[in-house]
Amino acid sequence: MTARSTNHVVLPIPFKPHRLDGLSARLLESHYENNYGGAVRRLNAIEARLAALDPATAPGFELNGLKREQSIAAGSMILHEAYFDALGEQGSGSGGDPGGDAARDALAAAIEASFGALARWRAEFGAMGKALAGGSGWVVLAWSARSQRLVNHWAADHAHGLPGGQPVLALDMYEHAYHMDFGARAADYVDTFMRNIAWQRPAARLHAARAVPASPAPHAAADAGREVGVAALRSALDDATAAPLVLDVRLPDDRQRSGQRLPGTDWRDPQQVEAWAAALPRDREVVVYCMYGFWVSQDAASALRKAGVKARSLQGGIASWRAMGWPTQPIAPC
Ligand SMILES: [Fe+2]
Repeated sequence: MTARSTNHVVLPIPFKPHRLDGLSARLLESHYENNYGGAVRRLNAIEARLAALDPATAPGFELNGLKREQSIAAGSMILHEAYFDALGEQGSGSGGDPGGDAARDALAAAIEASFGALARWRAEFGAMGKALAGGSGWVVLAWSARSQRLVNHWAADHAHGLPGGQPVLALDMYEHAYHMDFGARAADYVDTFMRNIAWQRPAARLHAARAVPASPAPHAAADAGREVGVAALRSALDDATAAPLVLDVRLPDDRQRSGQRLPGTDWRDPQQVEAWAAALPRDREVVVYCMYGFWVSQDAASALRKAGVKARSLQGGIASWRAMGWPTQPIAPC
């Protein structure tokens, strides 16, 4: 007899289905049991099959077929949990905009910071759902640890999501989510869903998501004392009164191979810093760059600081500048 696999267990439905406004208990119970429960049951079955498979000998199509189905079932489970979490009984604080306690106020503030205004978020989220009428998929309000903001993202299926995004609110646009009550009137379903959002649980989801440190944190912020990021340098160059002096300190081979430089920048030999440091201004910031922002420019900036120059290196070097699509120009002859 095969061991029973129950690695994943359904979460309880977090509201009394007959108390929602405009969504029937029959629809919600069917959705919970057949579609959400179905995803959890399917995921357990798939993972039991995977556990019994020898990846060294299994045909690739069998292994990858199960892996694809695992992603779909796991995505369905997770998004359905965010969907049911979003709904609440009348009188439990559902409807309207988030607010009323610290967690819901924090969610409202995060939406305003990310979208400009609650109304703007609501208009975009609802319109995205209505645009999926006649098709299928999800609309997800997710916290992006990468961008440190909330985003509305579209998902064509259960396995289609924002990498690293934590679902805060999910709108199910598969027909099984509304056809029983609304027929083809998907827009009415979207409006009804929005009316039944119980903000305390999405607010708790956001609170938990924000506890995860930003990733990739160490790389995202330049060490302000020693490095400057490419965006900050570009802004500084736009300010004619405080623009730093930017110098190319790449190794000669790297410079020739690239053939490009930051606009208007002269080259200085990174192995002869002491020879040219004395000629630099002491009352103006100096930024030195190399190919990728590693030791060549960091060592040059360090040597300049020792010589009394207000110097920093460009984080990411000319490679990051070019990756942003910002202008460069051909190198000048040495
Ligand atoms: Fe569903």
